[in-house]
Amino acid sequence: MIRRFAVSEAGPKQASVDALVVGAFRADPPELAPGAIELFSEGGGALSKYLAEVGFKGEKGETFLLPTAAAGVDLPARQLVVVGLGNKDKVDSCVLRQAAAVAIRTIKAKGARSVGTTLWAAAGEPGTVDALSSIRSVTEGIGLASYEFTKYKSNKDADSKKGGPEELVLLGCVVEGADAALQRARATVEAVCWARDMVNEPASAKAPMDLAREIQAKLTEAGVECEVWELDRLQKERLGGIVGVGKGSVNPPCLLRMRYVPRSSGSRVRTVCLVGKGVVFDSGGLSLKPAEGMETMKTDMSGGAAVAASMWALPRLGIDLEVVGYVPLVENLPSGSATKPGDVLRFRNGKSAEVLNTDAEGRLIMADALALSSELKPAAILDLATLTGACMVALGTKIFGVMGNDDGLVEAVLSAAEECGERGWHLPLPEDYKKQLESEVADMKNIGSRYGGALTAGLFLSEFVDEGIPWAHLDIAGPARSDSDEYEIPKGGTGVGVRTLLRFLERFGQSS
Ligand code: BES
Ligand code: ZN
Ligand code: ZN
Repeated sequence: MIRRFAVSEAGPKQASVDALVVGAFRADPPELAPGAIELFSEGGGALSKYLAEVGFKGEKGETFLLPTAAAGVDLPARQLVVVGLGNKDKVDSCVLRQAAAVAIRTIKAKGARSVGTTLWAAAGEPGTVDALSSIRSVTEGIGLASYEFTKYKSNKDADSKKGGPEELVLLGCVVEGADAALQRARATVEAVCWARDMVNEPASAKAPMDLAREIQAKLTEAGVECEVWELDRLQKERLGGIVGVGKGSVNPPCLLRMRYVPRSSGSRVRTVCLVGKGVVFDSGGLSLKPAEGMETMKTDMSGGAAVAASMWALPRLGIDLEVVGYVPLVENLPSGSATKPGDVLRFRNGKSAEVLNTDAEGRLIMADALALSSELKPAAILDLATLTGACMVALGTKIFGVMGNDDGLVEAVLSAAEECGERGWHLPLPEDYKKQLESEVADMKNIGSRYGGALTAGLFLSEFVDEGIPWAHLDIAGPARSDSDEYEIPKGGTGVGVRTLLRFLERFGQSS
């Protein structure tokens, strides 16, 4: 895992790093990118020819590793990784991030402790991507792809040796603002990796109160206010959804209330609320899931992890907004004290719901947190939840669904996601589908009919957002975990949502 991030004026010829990563564009023979080309005599013609001979074409995602000595250059770095960037005129932030990620995967197992790269300069002058965006993309690609979760592996030494570089240096970088861009990327990387750590932690090691205290300690240290509302407070505040879902477990539920205030905040600074689903384990409750469906349910707090981790990064990004985060933490288990199908819960805003399926628990805890958020009359509410298997059926495991009551806000979330390398898709909240939630005994029931489950879940949540408050709901059930390593995304918890939230808040804070 990368722990040291630096920008250096020194180029590859002076910097003592173990491995050097450079880019090459698709051509025949492949053309070395700016930042690499300068290293070689005659524009790297000999290396280009050699690469062509071994079948390297410069396609996106292609990598080739060779000793620097064999490449015909005398450098402190012993290993050279050439990474393909595809067509020269099509290099964008995504290409750079993914190239950086595949390069780091290539050298991960090779024992290099430090990596230097000129990839940030590959988009060239005048360039298809500006230098500061390039710096951000490359740093995020390398930082995020170098993540691993080895806490429970016994042979730690061997693993961390295999784990690859701990230091990243952007070489030959004299761009104004480079260090600030690197530090922003670093804050983002560290937030995403912390979210992944929380998600990957086994459920029994993150009981609601334990996880809450861990988050509280880390946020307090970062200068973000953080309160933990324990069970008696939840009852006093009439948070019947959180209390109801938490009743089945010996580990009591709680609610995190986090607040970031910008240092130089004017009196007119706007407020944004973030809400994250924090089900530390979802067995389904009395509506028990089958064994297979439970295997990954320690990840059902991914939305909460993304919100807490994003809150942590806000001071370092200097976001110009007041941001209030709510994360209800519960364990959804069956027991003699658990909520039963047919029970009625009453939420913070006075509405009631008949719980016909205790596995549709996310919406019940989100309801209280959204109602609390509405009371602050914020300029926007964003919520993240691994809410429905249906969303995963609709959009697969790489794209989250975005629903909301304000198309402008949904668009802003989608474009923030696209800018930073995450993917969302707008899903509707059809008014007439609300009928599906009608209950015989309460204001609504917690499940709809068999089809369109992501939408009825979204419609349920909409009942807890006051009219006139722009709100967007991100159903991250699909992309919250990954079954394979791919580019900057590792197997297991992905930390999805952190990058989107941070980019969204940066942009929203800049607009008035
Ligand atoms: N946590 C699950 C949703 C989920 C499923 C997330 C798979 C990630 C992967 C949620 O609490 C749930 O169980 N939802 C039910 C709702 C249904 C009972 C209406 C579902 O999607 O099946
Ligand atoms: Zn569930
Ligand atoms: Zn759940």
